[in-house]
Amino acid sequence: MALVPLKRRRRAPSPPAGPPDTGRFPAVVLCLVEKRMGASRRAFLTQLARAKGFRVDRAYSAAVTHVVSEQNSGNEVARWLEQQQEECGAGGDPALLDISWFTESMGAGRPVEIEGDGKCWGLGRVRVSWVPGTDPPPTPLPSSSSRCPTGGDSALSQEALETLAEEAGFSGSEGRSLAFTRAASVLKALPGQLSALEEGQALGSGLSLSLGQDVLEDGVSVEVERVKLSERYRTMKLFTKIFGVGVRTASRWYQEGIRTLVDLQERNTKLTRQQQAGLQHYEDLNTPVERGEAESIGRMVQEAVQRFLPGASVTLAGGFRRGKPRGHDVDLLLTHPEAGREAGLLSAVCLSPHQGLILYQHSQENSFALHEGPEPPGGRDVLDRFERCFSIFRLEVQGRPGAARGWKAVRVDLVVAPVGQFPFALLGWTGSRHFERELRRFAGHERKMVLNSHTLYDTRLNLFLPAASEEEIFQHLGLEYVPPTQRNA
Ligand code: CTP
Ligand code: MN
Ligand code: MN
Repeated sequence: MALVPLKRRRRAPSPPAGPPDTGRFPAVVLCLVEKRMGASRRAFLTQLARAKGFRVDRAYSAAVTHVVSEQNSGNEVARWLEQQQEECGAGGDPALLDISWFTESMGAGRPVEIEGDGKCWGLGRVRVSWVPGTDPPPTPLPSSSSRCPTGGDSALSQEALETLAEEAGFSGSEGRSLAFTRAASVLKALPGQLSALEEGQALGSGLSLSLGQDVLEDGVSVEVERVKLSERYRTMKLFTKIFGVGVRTASRWYQEGIRTLVDLQERNTKLTRQQQAGLQHYEDLNTPVERGEAESIGRMVQEAVQRFLPGASVTLAGGFRRGKPRGHDVDLLLTHPEAGREAGLLSAVCLSPHQGLILYQHSQENSFALHEGPEPPGGRDVLDRFERCFSIFRLEVQGRPGAARGWKAVRVDLVVAPVGQFPFALLGWTGSRHFERELRRFAGHERKMVLNSHTLYDTRLNLFLPAASEEEIFQHLGLEYVPPTQRNA
């Protein structure tokens, strides 16, 4: 299971402070090992278990009966226990359990039986026995002092991890890319400066696997520098920043020996209409959009929308709704309080009155049909199927430093949602992408529900769960409301 860096709290009241509550199962006292699980995920699982009536202690003591860990080897957990017992000066003989025991118990709403007393760690409800000194110590993550001679305070800076994520994506390694992205967002969610050890513990083992042995030996910052200087990375970055160019196209061009934007033009490379527009406005589109500019565009669209369909609304979504001061585009969500009236709204906005202001557009009709049922849980994240328009607007700007012309090209995503699906569309289009991915995973794994930008479907009840607001969607998921500004993970 992945790290869960989101701030998710159960709706159930938190346990009172003071002496630990014995919970519904007095014979069971849990303690979760933070190593590899990560601090935020541990906090989340603790709250989940407490909400289900389990007693979960923060620190190990002789009272603990069940030690739960994730992605640690049996020996690692046994060593952890030995350390804890030394530290607190207490013994105890708790069962050492893998996370699957925990997950099953949460699902069952009670502690499930522990099977066997064998040595097969990783199979789940298995108790491990440990003979000291039989396995090597776990590979430590690189620490800034010992492994990163050139680095700053932290070998694993968020930026470094993002570069590695990007590079993995360029090489088509989605899994590695995701591991780095997750790790980067965990770092973002953690408070303040961490020691390399704490950092390593919070980030988990998926990361060290993704880094590979050579990187662990040479240091992460060395690897990041190598990546940044490599011709392939630099070229891929240049090309994928063209609107309409993905990893596949960029990679093909690289293999064909194309290295620069000038090469692209001189060699008469075949470009789609979207890529032509992307190339033409390359500089503008790679200049951040300021909040004020996003708001201007919002007003422009609002005026156009009002003219065509009074009562229709325009909502700023995406990064700006999450409070970011700038972004790469403007995401606008359109709806009308009367279901059905919104149909065709987009063509009116995009085409007739504003043609001069729209430099490029690519529209797509609504192809969503409820009767098709939801996508299978755990399946690939599907993009929504709203009526939408990916466009480039021409925004008048005054006193733009260094620019002769008084306008700037800005990417705008316009999406039309029927009012009944609006809260889902708003939640889906507010992002961040990482937050959406984790929220959908949570819905699937923990709730057996399918969440997308159109609906929430309960697979156990075989029911679509309607919602009139984002708050209601969080309620259906059994989560406390997370305001947009806290969805930047
Ligand atoms: N989104 C989507 N389908 C797409 C594109 C985007 O559902 N085809 C959603 C994503 O979930 C994302 C949100 O819309 O979270 C905004 O996407 P995007 O504009 O790419 O990212 P932002 O978070 O707004 O970041 P930026 O400020 O760079 O634009
Ligand atoms: Mn955006
Ligand atoms: Mn967008």
